[in-house]
Amino acid sequence: PETGCLSIIVLGASGDLAKKKTFPALFHLYCQGFLPPEEVHIFGYARTKISDDELRNRIRGYLVSDRSSSPSEDVSKFLQLIKYVSGSYDGAEGFQLLDKNIAEHEFSKSSQEGSSRRLFYLALPPSVYPSVCKMIRQYCMNKSDLGGWTRIVVEKPFGKDLESAEQLSSQIGELFDEPQIYRIDHYLGKELVQNLLVLRFANRFFLPLWNRDNIDNVQIVFREDFGTDGRGGYFDEYGIIRDIIQNHLLQVLCLVAMEKPVSLKPEHIRDEKVKVLQSVLPIKDDEVVLGQYEGYRDDPTVPDHSNTPTFASVILRIHNERWEGVPFIMKAGKALNSRKAEIRVQFKDVPGDIFRCQKQGRNEFVIRLQPSEAMYMKLTVKQPGLEMSTVQSELDLSYRQRYQGVTIPEAYERLILDTIRGDQQHFVRRDELKAAWEIFTPLLHRIDNGEMKPIPYKPGSRGPAEADELSAKAGYVQTHGY
Ligand code: BG6
Repeated sequence: PETGCLSIIVLGASGDLAKKKTFPALFHLYCQGFLPPEEVHIFGYARTKISDDELRNRIRGYLVSDRSSSPSEDVSKFLQLIKYVSGSYDGAEGFQLLDKNIAEHEFSKSSQEGSSRRLFYLALPPSVYPSVCKMIRQYCMNKSDLGGWTRIVVEKPFGKDLESAEQLSSQIGELFDEPQIYRIDHYLGKELVQNLLVLRFANRFFLPLWNRDNIDNVQIVFREDFGTDGRGGYFDEYGIIRDIIQNHLLQVLCLVAMEKPVSLKPEHIRDEKVKVLQSVLPIKDDEVVLGQYEGYRDDPTVPDHSNTPTFASVILRIHNERWEGVPFIMKAGKALNSRKAEIRVQFKDVPGDIFRCQKQGRNEFVIRLQPSEAMYMKLTVKQPGLEMSTVQSELDLSYRQRYQGVTIPEAYERLILDTIRGDQQHFVRRDELKAAWEIFTPLLHRIDNGEMKPIPYKPGSRGPAEADELSAKAGYVQTHGY
């Protein structure tokens, strides 16, 4: 592993993302020894004029550790690593000051032979990415002759459609090379998402079955049991497709559908993901159901006549040898009856089924990303007893039971560590992003133009009934049991 001074700079340090995700993830890494105090310094940067201690107090409450024997001591020590610099996002002065602070830190750790690693985490709205990147490029790059690097981490939304995303990519691409840019999709840091390649390519069970001959349909589902709670202003501009489906669920689809990569090298994996995205056919209007929960427009930051969907079910079809004819039902919604993210791979009916009259349901393989990570296979077995009847049961791998005492890392924690290590496997490459926008842009434009309207649904429901009808039409058979 590389050594030398590591400066982690969180831009937008007083914002929500930084407080709720970035700093807690850094804290977890610190508690596990990944951020040794003799090498690491953390800088918060934002416009607000506050002191180091004020920033520390703002984030203290979000730092909770279940992995430390003396959490409060750890919190205090961790907070001491953080320094705050205030400045604008487009002026030289703030960034010069930031650079000076980083350089002082590097100098004070001169035992580290002067090499310098600088990680800029943009916990900021994308509208300021170009100016911030420009300032970093101009004033804050690693200048050490003795090695090191400068990397930037950016978070969605990367644009609003193909054109704006490409524009943003070009602006950042002129300033940084692709290996320096880490586009986070935090779903790629989830344990069961990372497990997908292992499951698919390290198990003989799945290899011969994972195709159109055996699989009838695939559902990738995200549900939340709360609404846009205080984020209505942001959300209304984007909607559920841009917020969840075009990125998080599509990334999951790639890992479910891609061919086996040549190796685990990041470029090999991302090459295969791009191929899947490029094979997705244009979305048909009659394979889309949009919804908006009742009460969504009561949020004062949401326009009274908002047409923004808070629910969407969209069928994607992959035009290749493996998946022709298999619908991928992508479903996401806010203010529904439960909080859950899962992949459901439903197999075709058994041909020549001699148990027909007692049939309970299809084979289904379910991967539950959250909550309570699990995977289970629904299968038909003989009902124990004297009668020859069948029942649907499960082969169940529940992580909580199977891996007792093992803490599953948070997605952000894992992804930030990857960034420090320089591993881009779980980050979105520029061409992937482009291909993802190509799939959804025509549909998004139709929605934005008011050509497609969301159907109202009750908060706490399953969403519009039309979505269940669409899944059924695509071949999904509701099974019993779980
Ligand atoms: C974010 C979305 O990317 O993901 C939010 O902007 C959503 O709207 C969140 O709530 C869900 O993440 P998770 O990890 O809780 O499923």
